[in-house]
Amino acid sequence: MNIMVIGGGGREYGIAKKLSEDPRCEKLYVLPGNGGMEEFAECVNIRATDLDGVCEFASKHDIGFAVVTPDDPLAMGMADRLRALHIPCFGPSKAAARIESSKIFSKKLMEKYGIPTARAVSLDSLESALEYVNGAEPPMVVKADGLALGKGVFICRTKCEAEAAVRELMENRLFGESGARVLIEEFLEGPEVSVLSFTDGKTVVPMVSSMDHKTVFEGGKGPNTGGMGVIAPNPFYTERIAAECMERIFIPTVRAMEKEGCPFTGCLYFGLMITKDGPKVIEYNCRFGDPEAQTVLPLMETNLLDAMRACENGDLDKTSVRFSDKCAANVVLTSGGYPGKYEKGLPIELKAPDKGTMIVHAGTKRTANGYVTAGGRVLNVISVADTLSEAVSKAYEQTSRVSFPGMFMRRDIGKTALDHINAR
Ligand code: AMP
Ligand code: GLY
Repeated sequence: MNIMVIGGGGREYGIAKKLSEDPRCEKLYVLPGNGGMEEFAECVNIRATDLDGVCEFASKHDIGFAVVTPDDPLAMGMADRLRALHIPCFGPSKAAARIESSKIFSKKLMEKYGIPTARAVSLDSLESALEYVNGAEPPMVVKADGLALGKGVFICRTKCEAEAAVRELMENRLFGESGARVLIEEFLEGPEVSVLSFTDGKTVVPMVSSMDHKTVFEGGKGPNTGGMGVIAPNPFYTERIAAECMERIFIPTVRAMEKEGCPFTGCLYFGLMITKDGPKVIEYNCRFGDPEAQTVLPLMETNLLDAMRACENGDLDKTSVRFSDKCAANVVLTSGGYPGKYEKGLPIELKAPDKGTMIVHAGTKRTANGYVTAGGRVLNVISVADTLSEAVSKAYEQTSRVSFPGMFMRRDIGKTALDHINAR
């Protein structure tokens, strides 16, 4: 079978690498892919958001299964377009992708179906939003309704900050039309947990939980990034909390989407906060997280393609999906200056890692003289071990296999998790 993966970051590297090892995979195409993926797949220079280009390519290359992972093509209806060509596809329809592409849609869904989340109001004019801020008690959280490269959320400690956030989104249109409407919600506190899950629209199978590290600097400081590192499993996500999430959040969400006439199939990502009143949904994503996917998938013991096809075929309840009880840690190596301005095209020195560690390419390009940097998040160093402490130490130790000018990493990936484990 020929398989096509849409996207070109570390997440797609992790997914494509695993699919490339499947004996049923005859030819693997990644659109557009990145330098590192050329080692095990054919990278095709078509952008993930070029729906016509992707569909034309797919029809000409006898694609037996497609995996669509980035948010924008899903929000634009890539999965619907591929299914219309009779190409089975892992990824939600455009209507189901609204769970991520409209924060107002997902907030209304949670309110209607009693799924625990932060209280919020949605506002569709600058005047009404400013008036609301004026009468509200800080702290509060201002969110763009639409997609904003993960940067559309402002935690505001004062009314002044909230007003500035509203103006940035609604007046200055920092993220264009995504800021036409905003959500202003109550500020929640507690450890955050990411749970990626497989779903066929009826059954939900959560993967191992994980913890992302979003800010660029140690200790939660600096601007938010796409993610500077991940550990899995997340020690705050106990068995009791997992059971509560299944009953009060995961199953109700999938049922709600079905009732609304837009069943969700693919990977549904639950961004949760464990508050003193129990777990609450901070956000949904309609896809695998990056860098969560490439951290969690090495722990998957059963077949990835089988799980993905079951999501499309509606027989996930009959498919075995199992994860090992080992731990994984991912340290992201970024270009100096990221998430602000950074240089590209810098030479990368790369040595093969030890057994149990994988170096994932996220933003690299292959040239005649070797790999060069081509993005903000350049490489991920991912180690698997029996304990979290070993996985973290090994991943940091193995970062010495890589170097490029200006290379940056957070030094405290896993610290919050390990402190919590040690305090138990
Ligand atoms: P999101 O893009 O919705 O995941 O938000 C980015 C980050 O903002 C989350 O990972 C949280 O750390 C934080 N955040 C979002 N909503 C809230 C909230 N209601 N209360 C506190 N923090 C929040
Ligand atoms: N790492 C967070 C995300 O993929 O949205």
